[in-house]
Amino acid sequence: MRNFDPAKSFGHRVAAHYDDAPRGDEAETIDFLERWAHGGPALELAIGTGRIGLPLSQRGIRLDGIELSEAMVEQLRKKPGGDRIAVTMGDYAEVAVDGTYKLVFVVFNTFYNLLTQDNQVRCFENVAKHLTRDGVFIIEAATPNEFFLLRNGQYVDAEAVEVDRVTLDVARFDPVTQCLDESHVSITETGITLAPIVTRYVWPSELDLMARIAGLRLHARYGGWFDEPFTADSRRHVSVYGW
Ligand SMILES: C[S@@+](CC[C@H](N)C(=O)[O-])C[C@H]1O[C@@H](n2cnc3c(N)ncnc32)[C@H](O)[C@@H]1O
Repeated sequence: MRNFDPAKSFGHRVAAHYDDAPRGDEAETIDFLERWAHGGPALELAIGTGRIGLPLSQRGIRLDGIELSEAMVEQLRKKPGGDRIAVTMGDYAEVAVDGTYKLVFVVFNTFYNLLTQDNQVRCFENVAKHLTRDGVFIIEAATPNEFFLLRNGQYVDAEAVEVDRVTLDVARFDPVTQCLDESHVSITETGITLAPIVTRYVWPSELDLMARIAGLRLHARYGGWFDEPFTADSRRHVSVYGW
């Protein structure tokens, strides 16, 4: 997507409504992460509005975050307890934080917000610098399976069809860069708004090699937050890396 700036994709307009439609799997995500945190401390890459990090911190685990968007962190700060979370502003592929963590995690396809293989490898290397010897790095992300079903590498999904608003998810996938150029297009009688985003999808096997480059190894891979087996039909994976 020409002129796309990742730092602007979660600006004030998106941040203000980010928590309006929760994904629905928050409870099981937090249970899973709590189990692997072993008491913490934990670090969330791209903490956003604290949808996951904040309730995890309320389980008694010290939770820090990294985030690029001031607007998303403003939403976090408005929530009860949100002002107590230490957030380092910067790119989680490279920014340094103080100390080491028993759990570092990145959920909801957010690893794919790093748009080159090089940046994704740098993320693993940065995580390795901040992981205790018994610590784990957990990634939850969709598999690219669905892109094999695309016609001409593109799709349009009707996300919402209401009396006064239609929202379309419009996307094109480039298998060479592995990037999905996507925009959420909201159409109302008063106008049209666009919410563009680019993500770089990878197969889990590519992630495993990135981990090896950073000196880490795959410890476990599940098809979901309930420890489901990861199979050919899995539409997402939860991968646990460690030393
Ligand atoms: C889909 S949201 C996920 C937020 C939160 N982790 C959650 O699960 O609700 C993606 C977040 O990643 C942040 N982000 C994207 N690229 C980033 C980067 N390179 N470094 C830090 N944050 C980044 C965005 O600003 C946004 O808050």
